[in-house]
Amino acid sequence: MTAPEVAAFAPGRVNLMGDHTDYAGGLALPMAVDLGTTVRGFRTGTRIELASSDRPEPVDLPLVVDDPTGVEPEWGRYVAGVVAEVAPATGIVGTVHSTLPVGAGLSSSAALELSVALAIGFDGPAMALARLGRRAEHRASGVPCGLMDQLASACGVAGHALLVDFTTETFVPVAVPDDLEVIVVHSGQPRALSGSAYAERRASVEAAAAEVGPLAEVGGPDVAALTDPTLRRRARHVVTENERTRAMADALTNDDAGAIGAVMSASHRSLRDDFEVSTDALDRAVDALARTPGVLGARLTGAGFGGCVVGLARRGAVTDPDSITGRGWIVRPSGGAHRLDR
Ligand code: GLA
Repeated sequence: MTAPEVAAFAPGRVNLMGDHTDYAGGLALPMAVDLGTTVRGFRTGTRIELASSDRPEPVDLPLVVDDPTGVEPEWGRYVAGVVAEVAPATGIVGTVHSTLPVGAGLSSSAALELSVALAIGFDGPAMALARLGRRAEHRASGVPCGLMDQLASACGVAGHALLVDFTTETFVPVAVPDDLEVIVVHSGQPRALSGSAYAERRASVEAAAAEVGPLAEVGGPDVAALTDPTLRRRARHVVTENERTRAMADALTNDDAGAIGAVMSASHRSLRDDFEVSTDALDRAVDALARTPGVLGARLTGAGFGGCVVGLARRGAVTDPDSITGRGWIVRPSGGAHRLDR
């Protein structure tokens, strides 16, 4: 009997609004993109053997890995985290191919996690796949990330961004108007996910919430009552970013170019000045993108500390996205992770 062939695809994501809000139970507006990761292979044996077209070293793991953080090569940690979560009875021999730039802040790790999970047999609702991917990410990297990346990759809806409420873990698709295009450009700075800075920001948000209540529920006066000035700025970012995420969803629905631009600029300033997750390279990329004719507004996207920035532009205005900072993409709002062989 020949081993069954499987194939699965999971997209990366770009976040249009709402960063560092997911782990605070707030709002975000990510979308799955038409770049992603495909796993193809045969289900056989008792090892996970995957070669990658983007990385020199293959992954070769047993079905039980005690410590995913110790796996080499490094990309195998994400695979090991997924294997620990799915606990398959049968291995796989196959290949991984990604059209996503690795380490650029477009959630290449979430795309890897979800495509591997589907290929090694996860079969369940999209939200369960998202949660599984996040647990795998925690196992692999130790970074206490929220659910946004995996949710966007699992639940993407073609033509739409997702307005996600992370208190209830539910979302509403918001159509991206046909006359707009989503432009992503690389800052040139690799995203050192600086796991420690991310964890430190998350701890600040939790410390602020311990003092004044969940940041998804409090308002400006509660934030002003925080005594520590750093915590106050961190909390102010989260509270105002939640408001901007609602405003952005409305602005997209109304195709209101002025509001889209204003809210994106305000978000970048808040991430830069209050949350302090921007860098000089990200600020320069945001400036360059925002100044490009036809671009309505731009902001950093994702965790910060390097990687990509995102902008919305009038359709057709940007013909050569590589020309803005040297490396760029026009990305389309796309559907979520799925098996390709059924
Ligand atoms: C990373 C994390 C997400 C989210 C963003 C910031 O992408 O994985 O959970 O916190 O940073 O919005």
